[in-house]
Amino acid sequence: MSIVVLISGRGSNMQAILEAGLPVAAVISNRPDAGGLALAAQRGVATRVIAHRDYESREAFEAALAAEIDRHAPRLVALAGFMRVLSAEFVARYAGRLVNIHPSLLPAFQGLDTHERAFAGGVKLHGCTVHFVTTELDRGPIIIQAALMVRPQDSADTLAARVLALEHLVYPRAIRWFLDGSLVVENGVVRVKGSYAQLVYSDRD
Ligand code: GRF
Repeated sequence: MSIVVLISGRGSNMQAILEAGLPVAAVISNRPDAGGLALAAQRGVATRVIAHRDYESREAFEAALAAEIDRHAPRLVALAGFMRVLSAEFVARYAGRLVNIHPSLLPAFQGLDTHERAFAGGVKLHGCTVHFVTTELDRGPIIIQAALMVRPQDSADTLAARVLALEHLVYPRAIRWFLDGSLVVENGVVRVKGSYAQLVYSDRD
């Protein structure tokens, strides 16, 4: 019933997952300097670095990563700010049990610098998305989205902070649904058994 969380940086989503009491077996980072490693270790969670720089090819890196993940036989692999693009082979290996959080309302603003692009684009609604990972970058069946209104006084930085607070709310929720067996995927669309809301709208600051 466990989860392996993959990170590359500060690990605040990982922390939210841990604080929600979800069963995290291990946290793996591709960067030795990821701040989240210390946060996980402080909580007694096993941590491991599989540094992509130590491998000659993506295949070799992913083979090492998969070997480390599989040691824990997790039910779910959760990407939480993991900044490596994964190959089709890797995604296929974890098909249906690999999830990601992306800081935009997908399919808008796939890729990087989402808050800067949302702000520059003048969108009035912004947010984040938890989705199953498929071979297309930042696509895949949407499990939950959280949205907020962009205010005139917002900047890319305030948007990032406001959206991050929502990320911490919805990622643990999506993972709990997965572990409870509540998610049903049909024709690329995710439904949650029962009447759980798959949209959170916040008008908080
Ligand atoms: C989050 O904004 C997440 O949506 C994106 O990368 C960021 C990671 O932040 N994929 P953290 O490491 O979880 O604090």
